[in-house]
Amino acid sequence: MSELNKMPREEGMDHSVSLLREGYMFIPNRRQSLQSDVFETRLLGQKAICMGGKEAAEIFYDHDKFKRAGAAPKRVQQTLFGEKGVQSLDGKVHLHRKNMFMSLMSEVAIKRFVEMNRDEWKKAVDTWLGMDDVILYEEAKKLLCKTACKWAGVPLSSEGLDNRVGELASLFESPSAIGPEHWKGRHNRNQAEKWIGELVEQVREGEILPDEQAALYVISMHKDLEGKLLNTEVAAVEVINILRPIVAIAIYINFTALALHQFPEQKEKLASADDEFMQMFIQEVRRFYPFFPFAAARVKEDFEWKDYTFKKETLTLLDLYGTNHDPGLWDNPSVFNPERFKEQEDSLKFSLIPQGGGSYHDGHRCPGEWITIEAMKVCVDFLVNRISYQIPDQDLSYSLVSIPSIPKSQIKIERIKRK
Ligand code: HEM
Repeated sequence: MSELNKMPREEGMDHSVSLLREGYMFIPNRRQSLQSDVFETRLLGQKAICMGGKEAAEIFYDHDKFKRAGAAPKRVQQTLFGEKGVQSLDGKVHLHRKNMFMSLMSEVAIKRFVEMNRDEWKKAVDTWLGMDDVILYEEAKKLLCKTACKWAGVPLSSEGLDNRVGELASLFESPSAIGPEHWKGRHNRNQAEKWIGELVEQVREGEILPDEQAALYVISMHKDLEGKLLNTEVAAVEVINILRPIVAIAIYINFTALALHQFPEQKEKLASADDEFMQMFIQEVRRFYPFFPFAAARVKEDFEWKDYTFKKETLTLLDLYGTNHDPGLWDNPSVFNPERFKEQEDSLKFSLIPQGGGSYHDGHRCPGEWITIEAMKVCVDFLVNRISYQIPDQDLSYSLVSIPSIPKSQIKIERIKRK
C-alpha cells in the first residue's frame, strides 16, 4: 500500500477511555482534527474505523460492504439490544425478521398507536393537575410504557407499572455504563426477558389472546425462514425491541420540552402551525439534540473506498450525532432552525440519521421512526396547545459525554393547567 492511500490514523494503543471521556464528540473531534471524514483508531483492544457524513453513511448502509454480525460489543447486547435480535442479523435472515417489524408499522397500526398515546397523555394530565410539580422525564416514561404495552398487546397491571418502567428504562439508560449500573442493566434485561418470555409461551399455548395485529401476537407466532417459531428468548428480545424504544421516546419528549423552553419563538409559531411546520420542528429536535452517538458494523469483505482499504472484519462506527451536525451538510448546524427542513424531506436519507439511514426494509434503519415522530407530535400538541405550565429554575443543561444524554433536571414543570 502506498503512503498516499493510508487512512488518517489516530496514534496510540487504545482510545476506549477517550471514547468514554468524549462521548458524542469522540468521532466529530477527530474528524475535525484529522481533517478527514474517515479515520482509523483503536477501540476495545482492536483496530476500528470511524466515519461520518453523507457519503460515509451511504457506504455504511451498503450491505455488500458491511455486516452486523459481531459488531455490537457484548456489554451492549447484555443491556440495550439483547442477544440474537434483528440488530445482529444480516442478509436474508435479517430481511425476513425485518419484514416482521415492518408489518407492525402499517398506517392503521400507527394511527392506533397515536390514539392510545393521546389517551395516556390525557390521563396523565388529569393526575398532574392535582400535583405541585412533575418531573417530565419520569412521567413520559410511564405514559409511554402504558402506551407501548397496550399497543403491543402486553398485559400490564397498574401495580406492576413502576417495576416494568424501571426495567425497560434501565436497558437504554445503562448501555455505556460500567460497574454497578451495568450490572443493574443486565439484571433488568434478565427480568424483562423472563416477563416477556412467559407471555410469549402463554400466547403460543392459547392461554392469552392478544389482538392478532399486535406485536406480542405477531412476534410469538412469527416463523423463521425454516418455518420454525423463534425460540422463546429471541421472541422476548424482539418484543422488548418494541417496548424498550417506545419508552425511550421519553428522552425526545424531554428534548422537545427543552426546545420549546429554549426557543420560545418556535413555541409561538407552533401554536398556530400546520402539520408541515410541526414536522419541521420535530425533525430539528431529532437533528439538534443528542441520542445515539454512532452505529456499529463490521467490514464484510475487503474493499476500497476513496483509495483507502477496508479490511474484512474491521469494526466500523458511523458518526450519527456528528453527521446530524456536519457543517458540510447543514448551514450553521449549531443553530436550532426548523425552517432548514422546508422542502428537504427527499434528500435526508443519509444526512438526517438520528435513527440510522438508508432503507427500512432491507437495511438496519430504525423501523420505529414514524412512531417516534408521531409520539413527538402528540407531545408538542399537549405542551403547546392543551396545557400551560411553568418551568422553575433548574439545571436544564445536558451532557455531550454521558450516553444517552438527558437534560440534567429531567425537566421539572409546575403550575400545570388545562388550556
Ligand atoms: C426513541 C427514539 C429512537 C431512536 C433515537 C432510535 C434509534 C435507532 C438507531 C440509531 C437504530 C440503529 C440503526 C442502525 O443500526 O443503522 C435503530 C434501530 C432499531 N430501532 Fe430504533 N430508535 C428509536 C425508536 C424506536 C422505536 C419507537 C422502535 C419500535 C417501536 C424502534 C425499534 C428499532 C429496531 C427494532 C431497530 C433494529 C432495526 C434493524 O436492525 O434492522 N426504535 N433505532
